[in-house]
Amino acid sequence: MTKINKDYLKLPGSYLFSMIGKKVNEYAAANPDKKIIRLGIGDVTQPLPAKVISQLHEAVDEMAVKETFKGYAPDLGYEFLRTAIAENDYRARGCDISPDEIFVSDGAKCDSGNIQEIFATDNRIAVCDPVYPVYVDSNVMAGRAGDYIEDKGCFSNVIYMPCTAETGFAPEIPSEVPDIIYLCFPNNPTGATVTRSELQKWVDYANEKEAVIIYDAAYEAYIRQEDVPHSIYECAGADTCAIELHSFSKNAGFTGVRLGYTVIPKKLVREGVSLHSLWARRHSTKYNGAPYIVQRAGAAVYSEEGKAQVKALVDYYMENATYILNGLKKAGYTVSGGVNAPYIWLKTPDNMTSWEFFDHLLTKVNVVGTPGSGFGPHGEGYFRLTAFGSHENTVEAIDRIVSM
Ligand SMILES: Cc1ncc(COP(=O)(O)O)c(C=O)c1O
Repeated sequence: MTKINKDYLKLPGSYLFSMIGKKVNEYAAANPDKKIIRLGIGDVTQPLPAKVISQLHEAVDEMAVKETFKGYAPDLGYEFLRTAIAENDYRARGCDISPDEIFVSDGAKCDSGNIQEIFATDNRIAVCDPVYPVYVDSNVMAGRAGDYIEDKGCFSNVIYMPCTAETGFAPEIPSEVPDIIYLCFPNNPTGATVTRSELQKWVDYANEKEAVIIYDAAYEAYIRQEDVPHSIYECAGADTCAIELHSFSKNAGFTGVRLGYTVIPKKLVREGVSLHSLWARRHSTKYNGAPYIVQRAGAAVYSEEGKAQVKALVDYYMENATYILNGLKKAGYTVSGGVNAPYIWLKTPDNMTSWEFFDHLLTKVNVVGTPGSGFGPHGEGYFRLTAFGSHENTVEAIDRIVSM
């Protein structure tokens, strides 16, 4: 008889965004005349940059000609893309990362969920609380998280690092020593960042404890402040303790195109084994590469035209972030994030729970956000709004909230 992976049964409730979708659909069906504005899910709304589109077209045409047709991509990704990434995202910032330390993938969600496979199941993970749910859920599925403690909303074998107003929504070094530490800056959901010197403390700690940091830099393009690092490899010694995840989704709008990459420096060794070689083995066994046309589109992001167009796209969303931040502040809300990130994290008013505020916004002003409690127990009493809407919708949504 076939037996299922019972660890899946430990996952609590339905996935946050399914629950939001269900509530919004029910409300929309009952109120067909209402214009609902969605500032909930972190999906982009603006079209791909023109340079990306023209490269996609060119690459598609190549596939129609025998001489330029491409089949399976190389295991790590095409050299032209890995070289562009190494030059622009790393060497231009003084980080010594080479193209063969970069693994091209179809996005940071898969990589952030799959990377745990190269580690033993008896490692203890530490995560920020609140947190992007994939880090915890993928470890639950792998049997590494222990049991779900219903009344606490956490897993028995996971080290949670509270990110609260008191800590500036950044984690502090935990008292129990983790083996794997998930960090994400600029942060989803809080929009918080850490300075280079603060991140250096984590790198030093991980090296001292021989832990590994999985650093999710999906929102790196939104960084505005000088002392906020774009990559963990800006910190000395990160190449012996950190894996970095990147996405083309939030900078260049590839959420529906799918492209990302993971960096594993060759110097990163645990128990005498190179993690680069383990991930290379995993990648070549279970993955057949991002499409050629998509990798060509990704390379366009690093052309001069592409860089200017991506910057304009990010600036567009950051204008929304500023409007949300200023509007809510003026209306008396306690808000953070939105400066180096497309997420605004607000304290729910009048001691409402996160889901109470969700219902309140949906029914009173027809605006959809994301309840903070969906990201972990310390997200309770908070609410996330995203800057990924159109200008018009963002302005209308904030004006509605402000006049509530
Ligand atoms: C922190 C974080 N990492 C990764 C992802 C997923 O990125 P991708 O679209 O590349 O899979 C998201 C998407 O919302 C995210 O918020």
